[in-house]
Amino acid sequence: MTEARSNRKVLVLPGDGIGPEIMGEVMRVAEFCDRRGIARFDLSQGLVGGAAYDASGVPLADATLAEAMAADAVLFGSVGGPKWEGLPFELQPERGLLRLRKEMDLFANLRPAVVFEALADASALKRDLVAGLDLMIVRELTGGIYFGQPRGIETLPDGTRRGVNTEVYTEAEIERVVRAGFDLARKRQRRLCEVDKANVMESGVLWREVARRVHADYPDVELSFMYADNCAMQLVRQPKQFDVIVTSNIFGDILSDCAAMLTGSLGMLPSASLGAPDATGRRRALYEPVHGSAPDIAGKGVANPLASILSFAMMLRYSFDQADAAEMVEGAVRRALAAGARTADIAQSGMTRLVTREMGDAVLRELARAA
Ligand code: IPM
Ligand code: MG
Repeated sequence: MTEARSNRKVLVLPGDGIGPEIMGEVMRVAEFCDRRGIARFDLSQGLVGGAAYDASGVPLADATLAEAMAADAVLFGSVGGPKWEGLPFELQPERGLLRLRKEMDLFANLRPAVVFEALADASALKRDLVAGLDLMIVRELTGGIYFGQPRGIETLPDGTRRGVNTEVYTEAEIERVVRAGFDLARKRQRRLCEVDKANVMESGVLWREVARRVHADYPDVELSFMYADNCAMQLVRQPKQFDVIVTSNIFGDILSDCAAMLTGSLGMLPSASLGAPDATGRRRALYEPVHGSAPDIAGKGVANPLASILSFAMMLRYSFDQADAAEMVEGAVRRALAAGARTADIAQSGMTRLVTREMGDAVLRELARAA
C-alpha cells in the first residue's frame, strides 16, 4: 500500500437531503483509512445548498468557496429539496454547486458507469447487455448552456415573456476537455467517442473540428463521433460498444443519468470533477455522487451510500495518486455486493434491504479484511 504522504486537506460539504446521511458513511471509510495509515486526512466541514441558505442566506458563502479553493479536494454530498424550491433562481441550492464548479474551474467531469457483477440483474437492461460494462463519460462542466450568455427570462413589448439560454463553447474550452478524454482513453481501451449535435448546432461542428485536430496528438486512440440522440439510444441498445465518451455539459448531464441506470441504480454512480493541473501538478477537484438529494427518502437513513463511497475512491485515485487504495475501497464495495449487501434501490425481490448505516458496515467489514 502506498505510504500516506502529509495530511490531505479535504473540505466536506454534505449539503441537503440524503447528502449528510451518505457522507456519514464516507467519513467512516475515511476514518478507517486514517487509522490504518492508508491515507491521512485533515477534514473540515462546510455548508452548501439549502443548508447554507438557511444558515447564511446564500447557497454558497464566500468563505466556504475560499476553503474549497484552498483544499486538496472537496467531498460533496447533494443539494436541493422542496423546502427551497420557491426561492429566487439565484438563491436556489443548485446555484451553490454550479458556483463551486465554475469558480474552481472544474471543467472535466468524469462519470464512470461500471456494472458490478453482483448487480448485473438489478439493471433495467438484460444481464448480457450490461454484464462487464465499464464506460466513462467525460462531461464538460464549466461551459455550454449551463453558463452561456445571454440568459434569463425577459418580457417582450407585447407583455409575453421569453426564456433564453445559450450554448456557447470556445475552442480552448473544447480542447482541454477533449484532451482529458483522450488521456483517459489512453489508459483504458483507447477508444474515444465525441458526442454532439453537429447536425443541428454550430457549437457541435466546432467540437468535431477540435476533436479531429487534437486527435493528431493521440494517434494510438481511435476517435469516433456520434449524435447525442443516437448516443442515448446506443447506450440502452448496446452500451458495451463505448469506452470513453466526451461531450458537452448538457448532453453529459442527460447521458450520464441514462448510463447510471445501466449499472442498476443512480445510487451507484460516483463522479470526479477536475481542474487543470498547475505547475506543481496539483489540481483542484470535487468528488460527488451523480445522484441528487432524493427528498423522498431523506432523513430515513435508507439511501445507498455506495456512489459517495466510490466517489471517495475516485478522490484517492485522481487527487492523491493512490490507485491501490482506491482499488481497495472499490474491491470492498464489490465484495459487499457479492456477499448480498443491498440497499432498497438495488435490492431484488426477496433480498434483505439494508439501511444506509448497514451498507456502510458491510463495506467497512470488507475493508477490514483487505487492509
Ligand atoms: C448533476 C446534476 C446537476 C447538474 C444539478 C443538481 C445542478 O443533475 O450533477 O448531474 O445539472 O449538473
Ligand atoms: Mg444530472
